[in-house]
Amino acid sequence: MKSLVSIRDLSRKQILDLCYRASQHEGKKCHTLEDQIVMTLFFENSTRTKLSFETAALRVGAKLLQFDAENSSLHKGESFEDTIRMASSYSNILIIRHPQDGAAQRAMAVSSVPIINAGDGKNEHPSQTLLDIYTILKEKEKIDGLTFTFAGDLKHGRTVHSLLYALLHFDVKIILASPEILALPKEIKELIKNKIILETTDIRQTLDVDFLYMTRIQKERFEGSSDYTEDWIVSKDILTQYARKTLKILHPLPRVNEISTDVDDTPFACYFQQAQNGVPMRMAILEYVAGAFSC
Ligand code: NCD
Repeated sequence: MKSLVSIRDLSRKQILDLCYRASQHEGKKCHTLEDQIVMTLFFENSTRTKLSFETAALRVGAKLLQFDAENSSLHKGESFEDTIRMASSYSNILIIRHPQDGAAQRAMAVSSVPIINAGDGKNEHPSQTLLDIYTILKEKEKIDGLTFTFAGDLKHGRTVHSLLYALLHFDVKIILASPEILALPKEIKELIKNKIILETTDIRQTLDVDFLYMTRIQKERFEGSSDYTEDWIVSKDILTQYARKTLKILHPLPRVNEISTDVDDTPFACYFQQAQNGVPMRMAILEYVAGAFSC
């Protein structure tokens, strides 16, 4: 049984094969999961991930069930594990988002069907990484040789963590730009240390790159003491002055104010396209865990 809990479980070849499969799904429907029931269980807010997984499930012909955490027996005291055990007996694939690190792993331990991690706390978000890689390939037709700046909340950003793990498979250079208190966790920095060419708190120095991966300051994950409020913004003015002409900006979204809206109509903006790429990639991911496509 194949689950997608961590991007670290996929090889470079598997990542590239999934991107190829996603490219075959662009703008199309198919029937590969016709007899399957896909269930989304979101214990934390979501717009893009939930909707694009649900769209993807329908586009591969699956039936969809949506677990409603608010009106569930969790409120009678049922455990997460028992909830997952039950859900897995009613459906063929579970897509889970949860505020706690490691929740997807816990779910996999008790589920009788494949689990897709749709984001667990500040830990990982592997399906986002696959659509990020797919977007990068669509833009530049390669990954080796590229330079990336990761900016914003590198401490709590699970999309950053998973994408960095995936980039371990590629020959890339990495710049880290964040306020000091939101720096990348030491363990992850240690893993990518051979790829890091600069660490800074000044985003203007980091824009002569192929991709800027911008992230939201994740205030809801702050652990009590911090009341960080400093703005961390990239605007059209800053980009015109400092950015490489061919720079593309990625962002997992939602954007709050870290990319000003005047950037949206510039050739730098790639984030809305990136979100759309989630549908064909998630079709490929559903097929992969269902065993309908092997890589
Ligand atoms: C991100 C997430 O939930 O981790 N969004 C997403 O899934 N597209 C990023 C965020 O919430 O800032």
